[in-house]
Amino acid sequence: MSKKLFSPVTLNDLELKNRVVMAPLTRSRAVEDNAPNDLMKEYYGQRTGAGLIITEGTSPSPNGLGYPRIPGAFSDAQIEGWKAITDRVHEDDTKMFLQIMHTGRISHPLNFPNEGEDAEVLAPSAVQADGKMYTDQEGEQPHPTPRAMNAQDLADTLNEFVSTAQKAIFNAHFDGVELHAANGYLLNQFLHPKSNVRTDEYGGSVENRARYVLEVVKAVADEIGADKVGIRVSPYGAMNDLGAHDEIEEMFTYLSKELKKIGIQYIHIVDHESMGAPGAPESIKKIIRENFGGHIILSGGYDAERAEQDLQADKGTLVAFGRSFLANPDLVKRMKEGAELNEPDQDTFYTPGAKGYTDYPTLQEAEA
Ligand SMILES: Cc1cc2nc3c(=O)[nH]c(=O)nc-3n(C[C@H](O)[C@H](O)[C@H](O)COP(=O)(O)O)c2cc1C
Repeated sequence: MSKKLFSPVTLNDLELKNRVVMAPLTRSRAVEDNAPNDLMKEYYGQRTGAGLIITEGTSPSPNGLGYPRIPGAFSDAQIEGWKAITDRVHEDDTKMFLQIMHTGRISHPLNFPNEGEDAEVLAPSAVQADGKMYTDQEGEQPHPTPRAMNAQDLADTLNEFVSTAQKAIFNAHFDGVELHAANGYLLNQFLHPKSNVRTDEYGGSVENRARYVLEVVKAVADEIGADKVGIRVSPYGAMNDLGAHDEIEEMFTYLSKELKKIGIQYIHIVDHESMGAPGAPESIKKIIRENFGGHIILSGGYDAERAEQDLQADKGTLVAFGRSFLANPDLVKRMKEGAELNEPDQDTFYTPGAKGYTDYPTLQEAEA
């Protein structure tokens, strides 16, 4: 069983020792200056059974640091911190992509450095998201109404994505970057008619709403090489106040075709049915697969058996594991042996410190 999942695969020049991906998981442990630290290095270092690790959502600028204690990849200290982590991960022959996440309107100024003195909540349009954002200082707070990005903001933010991607590859030694266009964050906010009500060339039609995302992807690909770029999308995703709408199929048909032209490495499809959200139907996954024609990462509610089935059925090239990787540092070994898995502890998903982060036992430790 499960032979394809554990077999090596080469995606262009990217050689992976197996098809198991550690999914991007925000853990909010970057307590000082939003910089990766030794605790984070230990955490990622424990999880190098994966062929590919995708980092937690990481901001390209102060404006994108909407959650407390999430890492950035724009300051020198942040890049140094990430370099120590990629060097550790590479020792075990695991590849690592940086997930670039700009939170856009899913944010609160209290979470910004200096409580927002040097940053701003920006989004395609001045449309407030329903729901609340946790802050360390004042607990849950309503999302603020963002300022609609003007032409200068669009250019500056695109440059932030490019600059972070450039530093990620050339200074922090990442093998690639994943642009986060899923789960209701900035790039997803452009794609969606609820958060994007612009009347210029970045809003309105499917082509217009996709324009900014494609411009960012193209600019990043031009800087670091298209084969070092992936994108994460969540059609039908319901997170962060962006539910289903009438043009999902048109949007993802168009987007997938355009991404094919740019020639990026992969599309990572989020399906949050396993987390209680509406599922992404097979039909939309097929639309993306057929129009993109490149590599697909599948994610959401996978175990070894279902992963193997979907790989055998050629639904994707790689499979990402989220909560099971969070709770099982030796997930790959456990899956190979058919061993029982530790259960994730939701209470410590986003709390600072080692508890519920680096202290999940390996099989060996559990047996000792
Ligand atoms: C604690 C936690 C943090 C997450 N953070 C991110 C993130 O930073 N970026 C992202 O794209 N998805 C994030 N996700 C979604 C996961 O990558 C994944 O899609 C989800 O957990 C479903 O997969 P699973 O059933 O294997 O856990 C997060 C999920 C959890 C549980």
